[in-house]
Formats: sequence, structure tokens, C-alpha cells
Amino acid sequence: MKVLAINSSPRMDKGNTSMILNPFLEGMKEAGAEVELFYTNKLNIHPCIGEFNCWLKTPGQCLHNDDMKMLYPKIAEADVMVFATLVYVDGVTGPMKSLIDRMIPRVHPFFELQDGHCRHPVRGEAKTRKYVLVSNCGLWEKDNFDPLLVHMKAFCKNASVESAGALLRPHGEAMPGMLVH
Ligand SMILES: Cc1cc2nc3c(=O)[nH]c(=O)nc-3n(C[C@H](O)[C@H](O)[C@H](O)COP(=O)(O)O)c2cc1C
Repeated sequence: MKVLAINSSPRMDKGNTSMILNPFLEGMKEAGAEVELFYTNKLNIHPCIGEFNCWLKTPGQCLHNDDMKMLYPKIAEADVMVFATLVYVDGVTGPMKSLIDRMIPRVHPFFELQDGHCRHPVRGEAKTRKYVLVSNCGLWEKDNFDPLLVHMKAFCKNASVESAGALLRPHGEAMPGMLVH
């Protein structure tokens, strides 16, 4: 099983997001998964400029020449994608949103009816895929994740993938102090 994980914390492996993401990925590796992890901070990903080239002029191909070119085949191959983000003003980080927006070339421009809802079918072979959300936030209450959970659920439906759950930890800034050395 191939797992593609994206961590969008600007603090990368020193951040609170990595404190919950990394053990999760280690567990996946121990269970036999092939795991690749990327940090949006180290990637050059332009925001989508909405010209619809990837749907109309060059189907499936984005006009930007940046690190999404390297990620597209990995996204196509992954059985599971893990989206790891801190809560950034009640949403995902900007770089994570740009990455998600830039996944639009993987679907066709036309619609089909899926469970009574118009969807863009996925290009190529339909593979069973799962998306997972990993997140932490600064505030204490779990409801700080509600906007993210709604977004992730909608995103999974939009992308015709299974939402495989979420690993969430509030009061993230308290986590480093809880580490047992
Ligand atoms: C610009 C910014 C916006 C944030 N917005 C929220 C928020 O809306 N709700 C919340 O609970 N925490 C918010 N936080 C706190 C972070 O989610 C928290 O500090 C988190 O533990 C940082 O994770 P990291 O170390 O992986 O970057 C925000 C932090 C920053 C820097």
C-alpha cells in the first residue's frame, strides 16, 4: 500500500502537527506501507489561477511548471493520502489549500450523477482511495476542528474518494511539554 503524506505546518518536523503525524506514519510503515512525506514549506506550489487549461486546452495537464508536476504521479499512485495541517484561522493552511486546489486536473470537466449529486468523474482507472486528515489546533475545544471536518468531508466527496477518518489533537501548544524524554 502506498501512502502519500503532506505536512503543511510551517514549523515542519519541529511543529506540533508532526508530533501526531509522524507516529501515525511510523505505524503505517510498521504495518508494511510504503510511506512518502512532503512538507509544503519545501515545495514550490503556485496557487491555481483558474484558467481551466487542465480541463479544456491540455486535459489533465496543469500549465504551472512547479513541484505539483513531481506530485501528480505520486497522487495518482497513492492508495492513501494524508493531509496534515494545523488549524489556520478555522481552516487548512494556505499552502495546503493551494495543493488541494491544484488536484483539479485529476478529474474530468464534465459531470456525472453520483448518489444524487453532480460530480466530476476521476480521470483514468478508478482506484479505491482514502484520504485522512491529521490536524492540531491551539485552542482547547474539539469543535475548533468542525470547519476542517466539514471541508474534508466535502473534499472527499468532490474527489470521489473515501474519507478514512481524522486524527485530531486540540491544545497543540501543550503537547511538547507532555513529551516523556
Ligand atoms: C496564523 C495562525 C492562525 C491560527 N488559527 C487558529 C485557529 O483558528 N484555531 C485554533 O485553535 N488555533 C489556531 N492557531 C494555532 C495553531 O493551530 C497551533 O499553534 C498549532 O499547534 C501549531 O501547529 P504547528 O506547530 O504544527 O505549526 C493558529 C496559528 C497561527 C500561526
